[in-house]
Order: sequence, then structure tokens, then C-alpha cells
Amino acid sequence: MARKRVGILISGRGSNMAALIHAAGAKDYPAEIALVISNEPSAAGLAHESLQGIATAVIDHRKFADRDAFGKAIDEALQAAKVEIVCLAGFMRLLPTPFVQKWSGRMLNVHPALLPAFKGLDTHAHALAAGVKIHGCTVHFVEPELDSGPIIVQAAVPVLTGDDEETLAARVLAEEHRIYPAALRWLAEGRLKIEGNRVVIDGVSAAEGAALLSPPL
Ligand code: GAR
Repeated sequence: MARKRVGILISGRGSNMAALIHAAGAKDYPAEIALVISNEPSAAGLAHESLQGIATAVIDHRKFADRDAFGKAIDEALQAAKVEIVCLAGFMRLLPTPFVQKWSGRMLNVHPALLPAFKGLDTHAHALAAGVKIHGCTVHFVEPELDSGPIIVQAAVPVLTGDDEETLAARVLAEEHRIYPAALRWLAEGRLKIEGNRVVIDGVSAAEGAALLSPPL
């Protein structure tokens, strides 16, 4: 089967982008990265070594009169590259509703929290302030409202005594790099079915293993 063409939208470091590119390097991976777009001209991710041979574009939101025009420019670039699936990977701008609706069911986001907890920014600081013992990350379909949409996969990590934002973020990020390529694989293979707010993954059921207890008893 032809590999699905993927466009990745970034704003910064690009480590999730790199994880997706790395996964797509495997012969049996069902998706290829056709284009990376950054809204930030200075995004570190644009210089990532994994981008060799992959088309990149800068679409600076500051150059557009409004959000709709910005979204239209991104959409045109995706169309030109014959993109079929969009992955937001640390993309820090809200996309216009018509854009999100157009890509509905074909656009994923990774968020550094166990949604619907801790939407928005500074999720690790909020998790520490709330005193949660378990934190994590989520890959979900994108809907117009910020950090919402049917959840595909989540990874949970313990919050350890002595954690600060940095140590907690690193533990979560390692899991983002595992679950995002998995979610993209499932979508590209046509194995995700959205039923209301729930996503059913063909051939994959929830873990039957032990619960994650934090602290362990
Ligand atoms: C990641 O932790 C991602 O989950 C988060 O930004 C970071 C980007 O890192 N995204 C959001 O907060 C979006 N709501 P990266 O550029 O190295 O992938």
C-alpha cells in the first residue's frame, strides 16, 4: 500500500518531529514525511539533522492579516505537497476553525499532559503545582477548541519526589516520542475509528497489564 504523505507543523525544538521522521525511516512504516512547516523562522527544529532530504517551509504568522489567511497559506503549502495527514508537533499557534474542520480526522496533536487535565501552556508546572502523582502525555485528533479532540493514546509517568519542571518534562517527552509515531502508524494504516469522543484502534486494546501506581504500595 502507498505510504501516506504527512506534513508536520512545528514552532520550536522539533524533537517530536524528529521522532516521527525517525519512525518513518523504517521500511515497513506506513507514512512518509513530505513536508515540515514552521511558523517561526528561527525554530531550532528547522536545523535538525533528521531533516536532510525533507522539504521545509517557513510560514510566519506575523506576515498575515489574520488567522484565516495564515491557515489558508498553510493549507496551500500542504496541498502543494500532496499531504494527506497533518501532525502538529510543538506547534504553538491556534489554527483557524475552517482549517481544522477541513483536516478533521486527518490531523493529530501531541500534548504534554494527560488530557483533559492541564490543557494549554506550562503543563509540567501546573502538574507539579496540583500535586498529581501521575502525569503524562496524549496524542489526539485535533478539534477547533484548544487541546481537545478524541484521544488516541496516552502514556503515564510517575511524578517523583524532587522533580522540577525540567526533570518531569524530560520524563514525559521520552514518552511523547514513543506514542506519537505509534498513533501516526495507526492512522496511516486506517485502523482508527472515531466513535463519539472515543477512538477505537483496530487490533489494539487497552493494556491488560498492571496499573501504574505512584507511589507504589
Ligand atoms: C512538546 O512537549 C509538545 O508536547 C508540546 O511542546 C513540546 C514541543 O517539543 N506541545 C504543546 O504544548 C502543544 N500544546 P518539540 O518541539 O521538541 O517536539
